[in-house]
Amino acid sequence: KTKSQAHTFVGAIDQGTSSSRFLIFDASNLELVTYHQEPIKCLTPQPGWVEQDPNEILEKTTLCMEKAVEKFEGLGHQKSDIKAIGVTNQRETTILWDKQTGKVLHNALVWLDARTQETVDFLLKQYNKRQDCLQEQCGLPISTYFSALKIRWLIDNKEEVRQAIEAKRCMFGTVDSWLLYNLLSNDGKIVHVTDVTNASRTMLMNIRTLKWDSSLCHFFSIPEHILPEIKSSATIFGHINKGPLQGVPVGAVLGDQQAALVGQKCWSKGTAKSTMMQTKKCPIFIWLFFHEIGTGCFILYNTGEDLAYSRNGLLTTVAYKWNDDDAVYALEGSIAIAGECIKWLRDNLEIIPDSQSTEKIAASVSDTGGVYFVPAFSGLFAPYWRSDARGLITGMTQYTTKAHIVRAALEGICYQTREITDAMYDDSGVRLSKLKVDGGMANNKVFLQMLANIVGLNVSAPSLFETTALGVALAAGKAKGIDLFELDDEDEIETKMSSFIPRIQGKEREAHFQAWKKAVIKSFERFT
Ligand code: G3P
Repeated sequence: KTKSQAHTFVGAIDQGTSSSRFLIFDASNLELVTYHQEPIKCLTPQPGWVEQDPNEILEKTTLCMEKAVEKFEGLGHQKSDIKAIGVTNQRETTILWDKQTGKVLHNALVWLDARTQETVDFLLKQYNKRQDCLQEQCGLPISTYFSALKIRWLIDNKEEVRQAIEAKRCMFGTVDSWLLYNLLSNDGKIVHVTDVTNASRTMLMNIRTLKWDSSLCHFFSIPEHILPEIKSSATIFGHINKGPLQGVPVGAVLGDQQAALVGQKCWSKGTAKSTMMQTKKCPIFIWLFFHEIGTGCFILYNTGEDLAYSRNGLLTTVAYKWNDDDAVYALEGSIAIAGECIKWLRDNLEIIPDSQSTEKIAASVSDTGGVYFVPAFSGLFAPYWRSDARGLITGMTQYTTKAHIVRAALEGICYQTREITDAMYDDSGVRLSKLKVDGGMANNKVFLQMLANIVGLNVSAPSLFETTALGVALAAGKAKGIDLFELDDEDEIETKMSSFIPRIQGKEREAHFQAWKKAVIKSFERFT
């Protein structure tokens, strides 16, 4: 612990798909002091459409800051000891607003929203191109997932957006930009900024130059003047303009998966420390992020300052960029629906009371009884990138019970993970030796054992799950000269982990995996 950092605290705004949160970390030991969380509503006006109200996102975020500071002071601390704030956010989610009035032009189109499938098809047809034709420039396949498609849809379908663009009053931003526009003051000037990690998910930034790419903007017919300025991930973005933290600098912005990568101390290419040192086999360090409840699962590995392109549907993305240093890249496997299908069992089918109960229910049967559950609610992301895929549950008999379905839902997440680890192996030529699992589902031991069995890797889960917020807090401290990266004790972290080793034979694993793949193929079929 560093004495110089006693009474120094760093805050983190964590704006995710299911909630907004504000967390306060003690800079002397990286411990979480307190936090406040507010849920965010998802609106689904049509099948496959997912929207959020940007004003709700802003109001709930502000409320979280106020409430967390209240709790912090209630613990006897001074708010003036909060020296910097980081912002981490759900990525790709697209917001357009009026530059002068700040009024939103439409609800946010959330990353999961698949309404842009027609736009994807149209563009591919118009240019007679393949889905990966822009991979070299932006590292991503043309998919409903990314912001450019969502902006395109809003321009094509919303008159008020077209008018605002014509009048040069339209601003685009991912959630970080929207929050910073509203929360920061900069000598009376409008703040319209983002960071490289968020920009790398739009399909409009050149992954090498880290600047907006006019040929990409041209491809999507998106005017460059609506785009924010791209900054590095750790730099002073401005100062909070009102509320209890007025005047505190925002020192970092990171997309949430990248923040978790940083929070898990995955800071070096391949040779990433703890896992390398522990396993001695795997030169690639993998963290698997499962979220609280709901939404997807994102697997990232640090490829250092080198750009790596995948042949297997993985994304090339910016992991982070500190001030003027070179950017560090990552390969990412994104799964659209993971924890979300547990939420679906709870809220739509109402067959489980809460997500925690899946542990007990799944353990009440020894297998799924031949049931496979492909949760392709918004299509399938990596490695398939098929927005037309739809969810299915197959293999049911009259003996199938709720427990089999719950177990099959958990297995569905594991099989999707296996698809990603296979792709990583194929791209890197290196068999991974370990998966580190983070987030809400990492509490479910039955699930973690299934994961080890299905993926065929050792799986471990750390005791600290707040890695996303911690990652951006570390980065915000960095921008303010508070070096929190020093306070890292890998041995201590490893001993706090619970570990799971595969308990089924390779033959059995492969047979189940092949059956899963057949179910995936069925999810591409249209029955009506
Ligand atoms: O790419 C989408 C991802 O950033 C969403 O993360 O935490 O809101 O599920 P989360």
